[in-house]
Amino acid sequence: MNIKSEVSSICVRKSGPLEGNVRVSGAKNSALKLMAAALLAPGRSILHNVPRIADVVWMGELLAQMGCAVSHQSDTTIIDVPDEIVPEAPYEIVERMRASIVVLGPLLGRFGKARVSVPGGDDFGHRPIDMHLRGLKELGATFTTSHGYIEGRAHRLEGTRVLLEFPSVGATENLLMAAVLAKGETVIDNAAREPEIEDLASFLNGMGAVVDGAGTSTVSVEGVDSLIPVEHTVLPDRIEAATYLAAVGAVGGQVCIEGGRADHMKMFLNKLVDMGMEISSAADGIHVARLDRLHSVDVSTLPYPGVATDYQPLLLAMLSVADGIGIVTENIFGGRLRALDELVRLGADIRAEGHHVLIRGVESLSGARVRAPDIRAGAALVVAGLAAEGETIVGDAHHVARGYEDLVGRLSSLGANVTHM
Ligand code: EPZ
Repeated sequence: MNIKSEVSSICVRKSGPLEGNVRVSGAKNSALKLMAAALLAPGRSILHNVPRIADVVWMGELLAQMGCAVSHQSDTTIIDVPDEIVPEAPYEIVERMRASIVVLGPLLGRFGKARVSVPGGDDFGHRPIDMHLRGLKELGATFTTSHGYIEGRAHRLEGTRVLLEFPSVGATENLLMAAVLAKGETVIDNAAREPEIEDLASFLNGMGAVVDGAGTSTVSVEGVDSLIPVEHTVLPDRIEAATYLAAVGAVGGQVCIEGGRADHMKMFLNKLVDMGMEISSAADGIHVARLDRLHSVDVSTLPYPGVATDYQPLLLAMLSVADGIGIVTENIFGGRLRALDELVRLGADIRAEGHHVLIRGVESLSGARVRAPDIRAGAALVVAGLAAEGETIVGDAHHVARGYEDLVGRLSSLGANVTHM
């Protein structure tokens, strides 16, 4: 898989209205979990529409270190899972990619043992996994922690009713993957409802699992004795689609986002319409047009179907150049406001108080050197750069390559003035 993870900066120049068609890749946040779920069955699972991004390569490396044969051909990833594996996720990979924690559920479910490096803090600050561990314990797993590793053990897990304190995406996924091979019925209450959970359930059901209710707050799983490998197409990436929508929001234009699923991002689209964008859903994707300057709105991030936290930096970029004052409240990750200081460097008028951000839109931003603090904030700075006079250099662009397949090429194809450096 050829990805530009070595690229260190993205150069953005002020761009005119964007025009044309752009295709979205498969969702990162589904593909990574489906790769982990492949561990649940011996044999060859095949995934199509996999984004060609650094995180997918790392997840492939993790599975390969466990003993799987993993190959990527264009947007297809083939995973051959042997009968026995090394059930370990080492520090070097978990530290780079926190999502690797989702191997815990499948490893305990199928092999009854797992050794996973304790995920440290990350770009959003402290991020616990207490809900993952508590749920897995309720299914019968035991855990010890030593030398920076969590060691999990289980005889066959036993289905039970698990109530999540918060609809955590990762905890729901880990529990789902553990429960499919447990004895009896598991019910997950207050489950996350994201479209990626539905995609995982459909992948698992294709393997022979019996999962019901995915996409609602109550997911039930009837455990089976074994699963078979599966061929599956990953759902489109709603956050990538949101990035192109935000780019049009920032500089105007008329674009078709091919493959975009409006039904997966309704609340976000409603906000964009409130800001003055024209949006329609068609068989080929999402059509968006922005003719006049955007109006500011207030937005709070919430679990799905609310406005996702992943859209928040993109909203900040758009509101920076909108007409009026907007308040953005980040409710999911307390530490996820790291685009702010960089946007201020571009001339945005922003004040933050706790997890609330007040943005007074300015007529125009001015290009400067900034740094991508994480995947989505990095993409948001590229979007802001399109609306900034002169040149914006977004450093640490490897963050962007973790989650976007050719963001620069795709924005350029719409007429944006963006290049790698
Ligand atoms: C997933 O993270 C995504 N990552 C994130 O996308 C996304 O922002 C997030 O869901 C919310 O939608 C992947 O899918 C790989 P959570 P996840 O568990 O599963 C707290 C991106 O850029 N919590 O739903 O880790 C947690 O701290 C990324 O693509 C606990 O307290 O998110 C947070 O405040 C970044 N204890 C909240 O719950 C736990 O055991 C939601 O986290 C688990 C979570």
